[in-house]
Amino acid sequence: MTATHTRAANLVLTALESAVRAPSPHNTQPWRFEIGDDRIDVHLDPARVLTVVDPDGREARLSCGAAILNIQLALRASGRASAVHLLPDRARPAHLATVWLQGQCPVTPEDRAFARAITFRRSNRRPFADRPVARWIRHSLVRAASLEGASLALLERPAELDRLAGLLRHAEHLQSEDPAFQEELRRWTAGGGHRDDGVSPSAGGPRQAPGALLTLRSYPGAEDRPERPYESEPLVAVLSSFTDTPLAQLRTGQALQRVLLTGTTAGVSASFLSQPVEIGATRRELRELLGGQACPQAVLRFGYGFATPATPRRRPEAVSRPRSQ
Ligand SMILES: Cc1cc2nc3c(=O)[nH]c(=O)nc-3n(C[C@H](O)[C@H](O)[C@H](O)COP(=O)(O)O)c2cc1C
Repeated sequence: MTATHTRAANLVLTALESAVRAPSPHNTQPWRFEIGDDRIDVHLDPARVLTVVDPDGREARLSCGAAILNIQLALRASGRASAVHLLPDRARPAHLATVWLQGQCPVTPEDRAFARAITFRRSNRRPFADRPVARWIRHSLVRAASLEGASLALLERPAELDRLAGLLRHAEHLQSEDPAFQEELRRWTAGGGHRDDGVSPSAGGPRQAPGALLTLRSYPGAEDRPERPYESEPLVAVLSSFTDTPLAQLRTGQALQRVLLTGTTAGVSASFLSQPVEIGATRRELRELLGGQACPQAVLRFGYGFATPATPRRRPEAVSRPRSQ
């Protein structure tokens, strides 16, 4: 193997190590990659789409959008530009993107910070400090979404937050009463942390004290945890797209990851509150809450968090193969 080939292989490995660090619902990691000389193809893995909670693959496409942004950012931090073609083949909707490797580009300190943040970002389900998120960070989060063509609405008015909290309680109740939902959740949380996918017990937070405003997703095993109060004035935001097509969902996945990484670089943690966007009726109500135009894709909670362990991933070798010509 020549030095050029070794460099290219290392570059692709770095990009894929970053890709697999993207968030995904129940840590399903619904992606596969094909490697060519000057390209990385991203495919949806239909066997890893959650059939109960995500029958249309919307959340899986958000996750793959996040993985695509990670590839772009990792290449950029290694001094390589890239060009992304989303949904390049109409006849094959599971072929989500081709990332074309382009020429050299200068690396900025911001590129390095974003690439580092990919490794440190976590879904942090623990209580956050009782301190409001700084205004400049709120603005950066909103800007990050718009840079990728999505919109992030911060629910800063108490009345909006209360309505969101009501939708969250209602959706969580419906999911907790749905045996198929519970069975799917159990399948992705079984294994006690001895697997490279699914949500491990160490990723959970303490039990919420009664009367908590926001209802976090209740993972099996949480009943045995100690009870703690959560932050009294949480920052909640809804990430939306302008249409609900697969293309818009991929773009919003890129926006989701840019928002999360922007938070990480500013020292702000996030966790998801997806229940209301996973049920048709509550998703429609959320849309009304936002003014009736936007398509809500993800609900996020931000704050100053304390350290939380990384959730495992399948290795790049397990999710990629050379591209067949
Ligand atoms: C579209 C989407 C929806 C998610 N919904 C929830 C949720 O409702 N509650 C939650 O605690 N985590 C949720 N997650 C976070 C995943 O469980 C998490 O990304 C995964 O376990 C990997 O962990 P990490 O984000 O710490 O790397 C969601 C992630 C994605 C991408």
